[in-house]
Order: sequence, then structure tokens, then C-alpha cells
Amino acid sequence: MLSNTTREADIKPFLKWAGGKTQLLPAIEAKLIQRLESKSTIDFIEPFAGSGAVLFFMLRAYGKYVKHAVINDINTTLTDCYLTIKQSPELLIKELAGLEEQYYTYASEEDRKQFFLEIREEFNHLEENPTRKSALMIFLNKTCFNGLYRVNSKGGFNVPFGKYANPTICNAPVIRANSEALQKVEILNTDFRETEKHIHPDAFFYFDPPYKPISTTASFNAYAKEGFIDEDQVRLKKFCDAVHEGQAYFVQSNSDTTNNDESNNFFQDLYQDYTIEKVKAKRAINSKGSGRGEIFELLISNDSILADTQPAERKALRIF
Ligand SMILES: C[S@@+](CC[C@H](N)C(=O)[O-])C[C@H]1O[C@@H](n2cnc3c(N)ncnc32)[C@H](O)[C@@H]1O
Repeated sequence: MLSNTTREADIKPFLKWAGGKTQLLPAIEAKLIQRLESKSTIDFIEPFAGSGAVLFFMLRAYGKYVKHAVINDINTTLTDCYLTIKQSPELLIKELAGLEEQYYTYASEEDRKQFFLEIREEFNHLEENPTRKSALMIFLNKTCFNGLYRVNSKGGFNVPFGKYANPTICNAPVIRANSEALQKVEILNTDFRETEKHIHPDAFFYFDPPYKPISTTASFNAYAKEGFIDEDQVRLKKFCDAVHEGQAYFVQSNSDTTNNDESNNFFQDLYQDYTIEKVKAKRAINSKGSGRGEIFELLISNDSILADTQPAERKALRIF
């Protein structure tokens, strides 16, 4: 239950993040509803949280059915941001409001760009002071090119200035509402495998790993300097096996490698024992030959586990 001053609608991502999940939400929601037919509450576990589009959707629309949640991401600055919002929202708002005010004292694009570069420099060298670091991360995310988070081989954030006319840098209502919603969320910063101890029959895992690139030109998955390679995709498959064996439910989104090459059945082969659905994504691909039209993404799940459970009467579940 939120306090009187915060609104459910403000429980939403506080960052832009590559791989937004808005188009997949209805399909993921349908899976959740199926699961809630046999479980009165779930523990929601998201081992690749990013900006938490699915987490915040769950907390907003199904909050009373989420008994507990665990999020994880390998990006320490990102998980520190979640911790700051959870623990010190007012300090963060103060820092961000100061940055916003300073940004808007500069009228020209060139001066704003200069300020952005100074903040980027400070961000890359700041070791202590997690509140300041979180504020800088949010500032950079709102003012950099496309809200990307990309690092060089030394781990330094290197996304250029974004040239937005009037970016909202300090969104206090969102920070406050998220802070309240995050009180029942455990925040981890490690490899996805470490969420293993949360496997149990009431757990609902949603995996959104860095997608396997579908072409050599669409190879953006460098969220962390370590990257995420085919061996990691195979490690994730083994982890999904462990989730299934533990009678927990999982849904994973990933790229459809057949978009670009019909014979590349990487995920179809890897997940042949599971349910794979193709979901239309509106995003266009830029690679030669198939630059127009629709592409698909995959939704992989262990739906067979649902057949073992007795559906209770269908309930009107959604809060709004
Ligand atoms: C596709 S993004 C998730 C996007 C997210 N669903 C959203 O709504 O913004 C993948 C995330 O996985 C994280 N990541 C990469 N390798 C990881 C690993 N080995 N373990 C845990 N997280 C990892 C990245 O930092 C990135 O935030």
C-alpha cells in the first residue's frame, strides 16, 4: 500500500535502458496470470534487471500478488542506484535537483554539452559517495545519446551527449513511488547464477539477458565490459534447467536468430525441451537485405510445469 502522497502510476523505470520490454509486457502478463491461477502469491525474481521495466510493471499492476521480489544486475553502479532509491530517496532528489538546476542555467547546446562532459568525467572517477554517483548516473542517462549505457574496455562510461531540448532530470514523484515499492525488493549485484538460492515452487523468474546479436551490424550488447557471449547463453540455459527442476516457473525473452538467417536455430536447438513463442517486435533491423519490416523476439518458458497444477477459479487479478 502506497502512502497518500505517492501514486501507483509513478512506479515505473527511472532510467532509459536498451532493450525496453513494453512490447513484450502483454505476453509476459499472460504468463503471470496463468501462474496466479494456481499460486495465490509469487516471489518475483529478475536476474538481469536493467531498468526493471518488468519489475516495476509487476509491482505496479500486481503488487499485492508479489510477496517478495529479488532483482540482480552485474552493473554495480546500476544496482547502487536501486539501493539509493530504496534507502535514501530524499538525498538523491536533492542531488538531482541541483544537477537539473545547473544544467538549465546553460542556454546553449554547446554549454550543456560541456557540462555533460564534466559530469561524465566526474562519474568515471568517483569511487565513494553512492548517492552522488547514482545522481550522476541518472543525469547522464537522461542527457546522453539515446539513454544508452555503454562502457569502454576499462569500464569507463563513454556515451556521447544526447541533444535533448528539455530533459526531465529529477523526477521526484517517480523516485518516491519507486522507493516505497522497492521496500520488499532485495537488490543483488552479481552474476545471474547467484540467484539460484531463490529457486522454489512459488518463484516466478523473468530473464532478460543481453540478447544474442542477430547480425554482425546489430551487435550491441556491451552493457558491461565483460560482454555476454554464446557460452553465457548456454550457462543461462543450464540455469533455466535448474529453475525447472526446482519447480519454479520461468519466462525468458531473447532475440530470434532466424530473423536474419533462417538456418540459425540457436535458441530453438538450445531450448528444444521448452515452450518457445515468437512475439512480433516493432523494431526495424538495419542490416542489409532485411532492413524493412517486422522482426520477432522469442519468449521461452517452462509452460509444461503449469500443466501439473490445478487451476483455481479465474480471478480479476490486475489492480488497474
Ligand atoms: C537486456 S538488459 C535488461 C533490460 C531490462 N529488462 C529492462 O527492462 O531495462 C540485460 C542486463 O543484463 C545485465 N547483465 C549482463 N551480464 C550479466 C550477468 N552475467 N549477470 C547478471 N546481469 C548481467 C546487463 O548489465 C543489463 O542490464
